[in-house]
Amino acid sequence: MKSIILAAGKGTRMKSDFPKVMHKICEKPMINWVIDTASLVSEEVGVVLGHGIDKIKEIIPQNIKVFEQKEQLGTGHAVMQCGDFMKSDDFLVLYGDVPLISEKTLTELIKKHKEENNDATLITVNTENPYGYGRIIRNGTKVKIVEHKDADEEQLKIKEINSGIAVFKGGILHETLKLIRNDNVQGEYYLTDVFEKFEKTGILNIKDITEVTGVNDRVQLAMLEKKAREYINEKFMLSGVTIINPENTYISPDAKIGNDTVIYPDTYINGKTEIGKKCIIGPGTSITECIIGDGAKILKSECENSEIKSNASVGPWSRIRPGSSIGENVKIGNFVETKKTKIAKNSKAQHLTYLGDATIGENVNIGAGTITCNYDGKNKFKTSIGDESFVGSNSSLVAPVNIGKKSLIAAGSVITKDVPDYSLAFGRAKQVVKEDKYRK
Ligand code: UD1
Ligand code: CA
Repeated sequence: MKSIILAAGKGTRMKSDFPKVMHKICEKPMINWVIDTASLVSEEVGVVLGHGIDKIKEIIPQNIKVFEQKEQLGTGHAVMQCGDFMKSDDFLVLYGDVPLISEKTLTELIKKHKEENNDATLITVNTENPYGYGRIIRNGTKVKIVEHKDADEEQLKIKEINSGIAVFKGGILHETLKLIRNDNVQGEYYLTDVFEKFEKTGILNIKDITEVTGVNDRVQLAMLEKKAREYINEKFMLSGVTIINPENTYISPDAKIGNDTVIYPDTYINGKTEIGKKCIIGPGTSITECIIGDGAKILKSECENSEIKSNASVGPWSRIRPGSSIGENVKIGNFVETKKTKIAKNSKAQHLTYLGDATIGENVNIGAGTITCNYDGKNKFKTSIGDESFVGSNSSLVAPVNIGKKSLIAAGSVITKDVPDYSLAFGRAKQVVKEDKYRK
């Protein structure tokens, strides 16, 4: 099975500088929703692109075949652009602006198509509000589709609508598309005109209109965003994740979350984030592309492209920037920022600290207000701190600098030279006391 996704249109009604299919649902571009689902049911996936082709190419996986439709002359014309790609075996057509079609429904469609040995099999749905959609006219095993704009008064009353999603017998589409014309209200080559030329079209009439709702404007975009969020959150709740308030919890369709994890309100879990079991996440937390171990706690914080190992705790008000690795049982407290920093197990940085380009050993204590001075205005430099060392409060570690293991940095130090293992380093002016100076 091969699939093609039509996505060359501009999406005029979106009133956007970006092509329609790049608009996101749950932080994932519409076209990627369709590509990912198509990839689950077919060996090869192609897309027809036109408007914004270069921008779209950047966000889709490399293995997707791209066909260009230079002028948007209709959905039938769009399919024609993929030439021999549609020839071989059964061929599935999807629309880039119908993002929430499910793997389950597509599998059912393909099964029905094969069992009934149809020329084509189409997904339809019945709705009280068919406005804008093509209408289905059944006549025995034959099906005709009339576009909304071409329909007469009687046809407009039909409640069964075309989803646009259909599977075709190998080669049949290639031949039949040659026969269609553009003598309709829009002057376009409609893909929907091929059905009346087939002897036997099967229909899979589904119940849930959300799966086949097309996004033509931003009102529909918001509607599908809400639906998608509901589906995703429900899936996680049924798999054993507690979500305190699903209405303001935003989880990516590509996230993984272990059971008995509790997610507090106002939390965003983006991209391919993986969260273990028995974690406590949120409230007010945003996590993007992170791997989080079992039992971790992340409270009121932002984490991006990092790893947070089991039983570590982060927050409140911490910022874990890309390339950080927070070890087992590590405690990162309030107003602590890390960037490209690896912290080994049981270490602590609890207050008001910046750790950038640093490697920190086990059981290290980083005092309040510690700063790794990693940037000289031009270049970045590294800091390393050995196991079981103690950095006193308000220390500046001027990189490049290495602090050995079991060493002690006195509070308020500015450390510019390496400190060997088992040492004590001071780097501050000696305190001077002049007694009775006030009265004199
Ligand atoms: C289409 C169907 C309609 C169906 C509806 C379901 C046709 C003629 N009509 O109407 O029966 O009920 O979808 O949502 O197929 N595209 C191209 N090249 C083109 C034109 C369109 O790639 O030349 C792409 C668009 O980018 C879009 C998809 O095809 O992703 C559908 O096009 P759109 O113009 O939105 O069709 P609808 O009017 O919604
Ligand atoms: Ca559409």
